[in-house]
Amino acid sequence: MSSVREVATTMTRESGDAYRFGQGIEGTKDTKRIDVSDIVDPDVLDLRLSDAARSLAKGGLVAFPTETVYGLGADATNPEAVARIYEAKGRPSDNPMIVHVSDVEQILPLIAEWPDVAKRLAARFMPGPLTLVLKRSDKIPDVVSAGLDTVGIRMPENTVARHLIRMAAVPVAAPSANRSGRPSPTLAAHVWQDMEGRIDYIVDGGQTSVGVESTVLDVSSHRGPRILRPGAVTYEDLLSFLTAEGFIQTEADRSWLLGSSSRQQLASGEAPPSPGMKYRHYAPKATVYILSGDHLASWLALRSVREGKKTGLFVSEDFLLNAEVDSSVLVHCFGRRSDANTAAHDLFLALRDFDTEGCELILVEALDEQGVGRAYMNRLRKAASYLVESGQVLPSDN
Ligand code: TXA
Ligand code: MG
Repeated sequence: MSSVREVATTMTRESGDAYRFGQGIEGTKDTKRIDVSDIVDPDVLDLRLSDAARSLAKGGLVAFPTETVYGLGADATNPEAVARIYEAKGRPSDNPMIVHVSDVEQILPLIAEWPDVAKRLAARFMPGPLTLVLKRSDKIPDVVSAGLDTVGIRMPENTVARHLIRMAAVPVAAPSANRSGRPSPTLAAHVWQDMEGRIDYIVDGGQTSVGVESTVLDVSSHRGPRILRPGAVTYEDLLSFLTAEGFIQTEADRSWLLGSSSRQQLASGEAPPSPGMKYRHYAPKATVYILSGDHLASWLALRSVREGKKTGLFVSEDFLLNAEVDSSVLVHCFGRRSDANTAAHDLFLALRDFDTEGCELILVEALDEQGVGRAYMNRLRKAASYLVESGQVLPSDN
């Protein structure tokens, strides 16, 4: 079987700027790819995006790039269209979707309350990789928010995303464009892998720049802002901004902002505040081990586990300087250990590449839980089955 990248390069040119990746599966949609990866002129972008924008406005499903990961979009005000997203993804319908907008004015009709803290955060971090959870208005159908009284709102920084939303002239509900449970797509080819025959268009804007999904911040509660999912707008960024603005004052406020891990919630019997947190996620087909603690000791501890198994290794230069890695191991090096941004940028891509190469095991270096390292470790724990520390192989806590 040819790899996805080969498929992507052997596509046949179709009418206009749409490319067909191949014939759809029988009885399913004929998914078209629109390449906008090299376009900077807004007028040309308008032309290229017009079919996809029209499809979105008419209830179609369109995957598009954002700065975080690719999203699978539908008109958020059209319940039938949104229901088709759940179907295409194989997503549990109790997991709500983020609604994407192209400017701040588009937010107001979608929400019931626009508290001061949200206004300030929007002014500082939008557009960008931050989703604000707010009380929803009746413009948001139940199917978008999975029955919650809130809605996640995000304004992507990616110009293609904003251009598409503006042209469609509807708010766009969009989860990550992967089949449920798979690593989020950071290339159009990943979307193709998961969604071919299930959706109408894939807008190809090249590789996403952040690589992990947005920070989800709940600002709907009177208790104060709370991170439901860490992302590239980090705890440290939010803490310093919210403290300077006077929204965070006490130690209790700070620890509330940080949120709690799903394991802490399960242990306390607390319901996950973000329904998505309870699901296993981002998982490639191979078994993923986290190399934690003394990374080299963890690597050595897995020698017998690796025996005879095709192995992928996602690590830093610092690791490779000290470890003995035989040539049978597939290595993806993300650069310096201190560079959590690049590690986060490459993680999902590497997990998918190792799968494509037929790896049975994937070993991934743990990073410090600070800055973007928190988002990286959050996704890694959800993808992993085991964590290796002090020579011991433990179940990963998700
Ligand atoms: O970067 C991103 O956020 C990407 C791009 C496409 O924008 N989207 C994305 O969507 O990651 P999704 O559906 O894969 O993840 C959305 C997360 C889920 O964990 C969901 O439970 C949570 O946000 N969420 C959405 N609406 C929520 C709400 N009203 N209350 C609490 N959590 C919510
Ligand atoms: Mg997702």
